[in-house]
Amino acid sequence: MDSNVRPDSMARITTKELADAFIAEQVEAVRAQVGDKKVLLALSGGVDSSVVAALLIKAIGKQLVCVHVNHGLMRKNESENVIEVFKDGLDANLIYVDATDRFLDKLVDVSDPEKKRKIIGAEFIRVFEEEARKLDGIDYLAQGTIYPDIIESKKGIKAHHNDGGLPDDMKMELVEPVKFLYKDEVRVVGEALGLPHNMVYRQPFPGPGLGVRCLGAITRDRLHALREADAILREEFDKNGLAEKVWQYFIAIPDMKSVGQRNEKRYEGWPAIIRAVNTKDAMTATIEEIPYAVLHHITNRITREVEGINRVLYDITPKPTGTIEWE
Ligand code: XMP
Repeated sequence: MDSNVRPDSMARITTKELADAFIAEQVEAVRAQVGDKKVLLALSGGVDSSVVAALLIKAIGKQLVCVHVNHGLMRKNESENVIEVFKDGLDANLIYVDATDRFLDKLVDVSDPEKKRKIIGAEFIRVFEEEARKLDGIDYLAQGTIYPDIIESKKGIKAHHNDGGLPDDMKMELVEPVKFLYKDEVRVVGEALGLPHNMVYRQPFPGPGLGVRCLGAITRDRLHALREADAILREEFDKNGLAEKVWQYFIAIPDMKSVGQRNEKRYEGWPAIIRAVNTKDAMTATIEEIPYAVLHHITNRITREVEGINRVLYDITPKPTGTIEWE
C-alpha cells in the first residue's frame, strides 16, 4: 500500500478519548522509529508544527531539538508565546533565533509581493540550515505535514515533500506523526496534549507573516505600526466574541500617506485597512458583519494609540473579486 494514503480503517478523531488513543499509538511509533537518536523540528508556532512538537516532546523529550526562527514578521508577542509554551511550559530543547535584521535588511526596497515571498522563504531555509549545521548527531527531521498537504502534493498543486528545503548533504529521514490527520483532527489532538486553546485554534497566518500585509517595500516604522494595529484588532475581536465567528482577520497597511490631524496639528499618516472574512477553504470568502460600535471603537483605539496611523478603512470586498490577503 502507498504509505502516503490514509488507511480507510482510520476513524476520524473527534473526541478527547480518540485523541488520547492516537497520541499513545504515535508515541510508541515515534520511539520505535527514532530509538535514542535526535530529531530536528522547525517550530513556527503554527498549529501543525506546535502539535508535532508537543507530541514529540511527550514521546522523546530532549531528543527533540526545536528551532524557532523569528523572521521579524511575526505578530505581536508570537515568538514570546512560543518560548513561553514550549521552553518554559514543556521544558523543550528549544533554540530561539532572532533573525529580524537579516530578513528586514534583505527586504529593503523590495516591493514586488512574489519577490518578497521568495526572499522570506529562501532566507528562512538558510537560517534553519545554519542552525542545523551547528548541531551534531541529528538523524531525523520532523515535519508538521498534514493529510491535505499530501493530497495537494499528489495532485501537483503544492510541492510538499521537500525535507524542509534542506540541501542534499543534509537530507534526513522524516518523522511526520500527523500526516494522516485533517486540520480539525490536529486541533483535537493538540488540545488533548494540553496546548493552549488560542494556539490550537489560532486563525491561519501566512508563512511570510506580516511581510505581505506591510504592502509594498517594508519599512520598520510601518511594520511596527502594523503590528500594533493588528494586536488591537485581535484584542477587540477576542473581547467582542468575534474571534470565534470570523475565520481570518487582520490589518494591512499600504505604502501611502494621507493628510489628517492629531492634537490640533497637521498629521500625515498611513491608513490601516481592516480585513475580516469567513470561508471554508479559502478559495472563496464572504464578509462577516462587524457591529458598527465595534468598528468605531477599533478605529478610535488604532488612531489614538498607534504612531503613524491617521485613518482606519474597512475592506468589504468578498473573494472573488478580492483575494483574502492584499498581496
Ligand atoms: P488569498 O490571499 O490567496 O489567501 O485569498 C488564501 C489563504 O492563504 C493564505 N496565504 C498564504 N499562506 N503563504 C502561506 O502560508 C503565503 O504566501 C500565503 N499567501 C496567502 C491567506 O492568509 C489565506 O488564508
